[in-house]
Amino acid sequence: METAIIYASSHGTTEKVAIQIQHELGAENTHLFNLKSIKTIDLSRFDILVIGGSIHAGQMQGKVKRFCKNNMVDLLQKRVGLFMVGMNEPEFENEFNNAFPELLRKHAITSKCVGGEFLFEKMNFIEKLIVKKVSGISQNVSKIDETKVSQLVHEINSHL
Ligand SMILES: Cc1cc2nc3c(=O)[nH]c(=O)nc-3n(C[C@H](O)[C@H](O)[C@H](O)COP(=O)(O)O)c2cc1C
Repeated sequence: METAIIYASSHGTTEKVAIQIQHELGAENTHLFNLKSIKTIDLSRFDILVIGGSIHAGQMQGKVKRFCKNNMVDLLQKRVGLFMVGMNEPEFENEFNNAFPELLRKHAITSKCVGGEFLFEKMNFIEKLIVKKVSGISQNVSKIDETKVSQLVHEINSHL
């Protein structure tokens, strides 16, 4: 069973989660694809696809949205897991529904909002201002929900 984890990450947290999922699933048969640097992926090589991205100003990266839209026919023939990284928990459901097409959400064997991080050293001036104003937070904070990550891995493994 070969698995691809396909993701976009603006400040590195989604990548961190993707690597964690890779390790928990077993790194030998699990391959990472960062949509920032990889343009085409031969999906036929994989049995399971895990797709994730993060939310900035209410939206998931366009690269993730376009990947799902452009590959929908193939995705619906695979086992798919979805994850979202974000910090605004009350909005997670809306953000998730807006990030992934309904067909794919219904098809997915697991879907998780796994929390996120504020990493001020990775933010530009405007981003720092927005985060401080909207959240009231001005120091690094990590709220990655390890339980949700493990649940995602467990639910993928139970569909093997
Ligand atoms: C400028 C900015 C805007 C953000 N807007 C949202 C948001 O609207 N909703 C949310 O849930 N999280 C929001 N976040 C939190 C990010 O999703 C969080 O920092 C995440 O860990 C980023 O992951 P990444 O490094 O993989 O891009 C925002 C973060 C930044 C820096």
